[in-house]
Amino acid sequence: MNRHETDSRLRVHITDAEKQRWEVPYNLLPRETISTTKSAKEAIKFKSAEYSGKELIFTYQTDPFSFSIKRRSNGDTLFDSESKESDPFSNLVFKDQYLEISTKLPKDASLYGLGENSQPHGIKIQPNEPYTLYTTDISAINLNADLYGSHPVYMDLRNLKAHGVLLLNSNGMDVFYRGNSLTYKVIGGIFDFYFFSGPSPLGVVDQYTAFVGRPAPMPYWAFGFHQCRWGYHNLSVVEDVVENYKKAKIPLDVIWNDDDHMDGHKDFTLNPTNYPRPKLLAFLEKIHARGMKYIVIIDPGIGVNKSYGVYNRGLANDVFIKYEDKPYLAQVWPGAVNFPDFLNPKTVDWWVDEIRRFHELVPVDGLWIDMNEASNFCSGLCTIPEGRICPNGTGPGWVCCLDCKNITQTRWDDPPYKINASGTQVPIGYKTIATSAYHYNGVLEYDAHSIYGFSQSVATHKALQGLEGKRPFILTRSTFVGSGHYAAHWTGDNKGTWDDLKLSISTMLNFGIFGVPMVGSDICGFYPAAPPLEELCNRWIELGAFYPFSRDHANFYSPRQELYQWESVAESARNALGMRYKLLPYLYTLNYEAHRTGAPIARPLFFSFPNETKLYGLSTQFLLGSSLMVSPVLDKGNTEVKALFPPGSWYNMFDMTKVIVSKESHYLSLNAPLHVINVHLYQNAIIPMQQGGLISKEARTTPFTLIVAFPLGATTGEATGNLFLDDDELPEMKLGSGYSTYIDFYATVSQGTVKVWSDVQESKFALEKGWTIEKVVVLGLRGIGSDYKVEVDGNGVDSSKVVFGSTEHQYTEKLEDGGDKMKNVMVE
Ligand code: NOJ
Repeated sequence: MNRHETDSRLRVHITDAEKQRWEVPYNLLPRETISTTKSAKEAIKFKSAEYSGKELIFTYQTDPFSFSIKRRSNGDTLFDSESKESDPFSNLVFKDQYLEISTKLPKDASLYGLGENSQPHGIKIQPNEPYTLYTTDISAINLNADLYGSHPVYMDLRNLKAHGVLLLNSNGMDVFYRGNSLTYKVIGGIFDFYFFSGPSPLGVVDQYTAFVGRPAPMPYWAFGFHQCRWGYHNLSVVEDVVENYKKAKIPLDVIWNDDDHMDGHKDFTLNPTNYPRPKLLAFLEKIHARGMKYIVIIDPGIGVNKSYGVYNRGLANDVFIKYEDKPYLAQVWPGAVNFPDFLNPKTVDWWVDEIRRFHELVPVDGLWIDMNEASNFCSGLCTIPEGRICPNGTGPGWVCCLDCKNITQTRWDDPPYKINASGTQVPIGYKTIATSAYHYNGVLEYDAHSIYGFSQSVATHKALQGLEGKRPFILTRSTFVGSGHYAAHWTGDNKGTWDDLKLSISTMLNFGIFGVPMVGSDICGFYPAAPPLEELCNRWIELGAFYPFSRDHANFYSPRQELYQWESVAESARNALGMRYKLLPYLYTLNYEAHRTGAPIARPLFFSFPNETKLYGLSTQFLLGSSLMVSPVLDKGNTEVKALFPPGSWYNMFDMTKVIVSKESHYLSLNAPLHVINVHLYQNAIIPMQQGGLISKEARTTPFTLIVAFPLGATTGEATGNLFLDDDELPEMKLGSGYSTYIDFYATVSQGTVKVWSDVQESKFALEKGWTIEKVVVLGLRGIGSDYKVEVDGNGVDSSKVVFGSTEHQYTEKLEDGGDKMKNVMVE
């Protein structure tokens, strides 16, 4: 069946008319339920048909069945599955455990998405490399392999228009792009395609997230800096880290514990010696009073241990995934474990209750859900031999100590088509839950494998939301279509190398397209690489300070890499994070936009400049929102960075007297000594800033400055921006709650007058909080400040309050009448 679900979304749902097949459960996805009307078999009763009237036109043919999707406005064929004898890749196959479909594509299409993948060649999907989608715990240093999440969605940008294609299917698949065609080879489920017409890149993510669930609103503090590490052996080490950040005057909002606080690596427990509860509570009271937050990890594997309450209650409630009527036995950090089945409503209730109990023990502010692909140190069907106690933790804990046998006898464990699992075609049950194990209602792990982490995010979100009625913060490693509605994501186990520093940009940008805008990579790298780390860590914090989610995290065996460990890194951190903390109101407003419209917080440059084809593959720079461009140093020893500047005026955020004017997209060399990261503000924008601070809670109370950027040399022009403020403790992020304010800012310059004004919705909240705009900085005007009359919200501003700043042109492309006269005007 096909259906225009909205003017911009079209669904093509091809299933078996006679037999119920596995489909991604709608109740899990935060979106409307849609009833199916026609199956493919019914559809082929028609000779051919054309449905039109919306931007996307569906046509199909029978015998053999094929369909195509066209863009109505320009006649472009967006998807075309037509089979051709001459092209063996174009056949549609619809078997029980093998589905195949191809679409022809024009050579000039640029494709983005299909993850999770570390995108070794940048953000653009590369021809002739398989994209395998199957949630897997292999570290992010494995290039072009099926990493932790599964997102069978891509954006196609061509002829200056973008559209999106989602194949809503959770089974393992290989996707091959050959430059002129794209082929899906899927091992189960159905073809459930959704086409999103765009035509702008932002339009595509808007339409996509309207369907799969809008990104979760993040609390304000989540935009602060986070410090984590595996191997904070006791509480004193953690206390020390917090104090050292304070001493070094480096911002820090959130301190994390990996599994070190646990007793025997068991979820929801505390190690009585290293993390005694009374001391931990005192510590939390102290940091909470400062406005800091605390997050700990939990893994899905529940230790099999008769004296462990969480396990016993789980067993009593029958919450685990089963194999032959018994909980499926696996091994993770606690030793032998069973995996909760989050598709079972009873499991969700038990999980919610366990989180409630834990929160009474330790008032954590968020949860980090890891190893949820699910990761297993063993494979197949395992038992614990009588009397054997598997070690827990690191080192020997990693080696499978259960007695396991391979399961090859079922077609689920050994399907006819082998996806490129783990990048090496290992069996699909390798180091995860056996695919013939089953969930609630007999759902096979084979089908539900890639939604495991997603279903855990849904349950964890429910638990946190119910706790104190606060906005939840969850960080998850495994994600699926719709995960952004519940959780943030980090890009997993990377390495402290320059290559990994670069890769972090593409993965982050991809997750924005997937509707998971709160994303970042382990700053300074998770796995240690050959030292020295110092220069890399300088560059990493400079880039990482502008990830939406900014966290330093390291492996158990890594040398210490908190930002204060080197004076040079501390200086770079103060600089870059100092800027981040001034920009928190801007980032938080982007969080609101992401929540409302899906707009990624960090975006590829083509999102704002879709006409600039030179930008289509650019993976070394990115935008925050539509106005801030980050151009980091990504290579060892470099003190200059080659950065692409789309046409327009770009103001240096660290020294606003410096401006780059570019007439057409081209690369420029920028100075970037060790402590410098280049961040530029684009013309026609107004951004709200505050004064920064060491904790977001303090930074939040400082007065605002509005930066108004006109094109350099403007005598007429306009600029716009916005600001969202709310009580971030509230679960919802919206206007109308009585606890939020939204402001649109406008500015114009014409006939010698600069006018800045605001349109405020629900001012009460901001007024009660006492927020003020202390300063307006106007950039780019021709002439000098006293040439202009200035009005703010309709009131003339006293000329004694007008301060002039000089403008230094780093680069201008021959402004006709001499750029050197340009001045910035600062209005206080
Ligand atoms: C794997 C995660 O990816 C990593 O970040 C974490 O430190 C370890 N598990 C230990 O919990």
